[in-house]
Amino acid sequence: MLKVLMVCLGNICRSPLAEGILKSKIDTNQIFVDSAGTGAYHVGNLPDSRSIEVAKKHQLDITDQRARAFSSADFDQFDYIYVMDASNYSNVVKLAVNEAQKSKVKMILEELEPSSGMEVPDPYYGGDGGFEHVYQLLDESCTVIAEKLTN
Ligand code: 4NP
Repeated sequence: MLKVLMVCLGNICRSPLAEGILKSKIDTNQIFVDSAGTGAYHVGNLPDSRSIEVAKKHQLDITDQRARAFSSADFDQFDYIYVMDASNYSNVVKLAVNEAQKSKVKMILEELEPSSGMEVPDPYYGGDGGFEHVYQLLDESCTVIAEKLTN
């Protein structure tokens, strides 16, 4: 079974949305999707209420998710590790012990524009508009990822 991990900083705003959106576009019996954070401050918590709301607005329920921390064991478990921004990228890649592990890590918006360095902005301290913007970015990139994984 193919396994995809979505990673952000807190695992409460961006990566839970990425997990929920990708799950809605693939067959979850064939592809396992999970998410994690490079920081451990929110471990065990529900997604941020603003992420829950924006997901709900788009007919997605992400309230079954609980935050967990990324660990180096995830490199063995997962085939693809998508990060939201350059800071997540460096935090994850510094735990890789070889090139094969490092090559699993990719900035999620680079599925839309390869090598663009485009980031999913951290909406935590911003207003609600930030969450809709994040949703749209993740929705577009997850469409591309779902096509890639299913073809
Ligand atoms: P996320 O957003 O990485 O998209 O889950 C954040 C959530 C919490 C914090 C930062 C970003 N924080 O500093 O607590």
